[in-house]
Amino acid sequence: MRRNPRDLQRYTASERANHWVVGICFILLALSGLAFFHPAFFPLTQLFGGGPWTRILHPYVGLVMEAFFVIMALRFWRLNVIERRDVEWLRNVRKMVDGDDHAMPEQGKYNGGQKVLFWGLVIGMLLLLATGLLMWRAWWTPPVDVVRAASVVHAVAAVWMIGLIIMHVYAAIWTRGTIRAMLYGTVTRAWAKQHHRGWYRKMTGDNS
Ligand code: HEM
Repeated sequence: MRRNPRDLQRYTASERANHWVVGICFILLALSGLAFFHPAFFPLTQLFGGGPWTRILHPYVGLVMEAFFVIMALRFWRLNVIERRDVEWLRNVRKMVDGDDHAMPEQGKYNGGQKVLFWGLVIGMLLLLATGLLMWRAWWTPPVDVVRAASVVHAVAAVWMIGLIIMHVYAAIWTRGTIRAMLYGTVTRAWAKQHHRGWYRKMTGDNS
């Protein structure tokens, strides 16, 4: 895509690479995890070299995703601290969904919805990691009841995460001009002014 010199930089190349490692691992984990979850999804194991290979690879891909997620969360957590204006934004979210976003309180780099999603992802990631490690019997042998409880929580956390990521991707597509932020790193000034006016003012010094 041709870059307009007036566009604003939203993500560095390293932040984008970090995000996409997490995103690609997440898709691989969802596909392999679903294959363990129900026989109807078992054919998905073909993507990973069959049942045993899927079983071997899934936890390692999980560790890669967790490690890169920790780096991403350390980079972004400060920008996701929930403020008063975010609560106000969340109260009015219905209006925005109905297309009337002019009365919404001004937002910084992320809006209230993105921030809630961020902390929802952090909780899901912690649960997946803790329960995944507990049931990784290639390395240790916890009591069977612990493995059983961990697998239930792991499945619930996975459904939670898949739901959140569906919302995340939907919102990114629905808000036109957002996907390119994670592809090329830049957004237009008009996009920034409309969706994240506080961030726009900070980046440009334009207080109009
Ligand atoms: C695979 C499909 C995905 C797509 C198409 C996608 C798309 C995007 C886009 C376009 C942004 C920029 C939003 C903005 O700057 O306003 C973004 C930000 C972000 N994404 Fe994704 N993403 C995907 C998967 C994931 C996954 C799997 C995770 C983590 C589990 C994730 C976590 C994040 C985080 C933490 C941010 C920064 C927003 C914030 O901190 O609130 N994404 N994503």
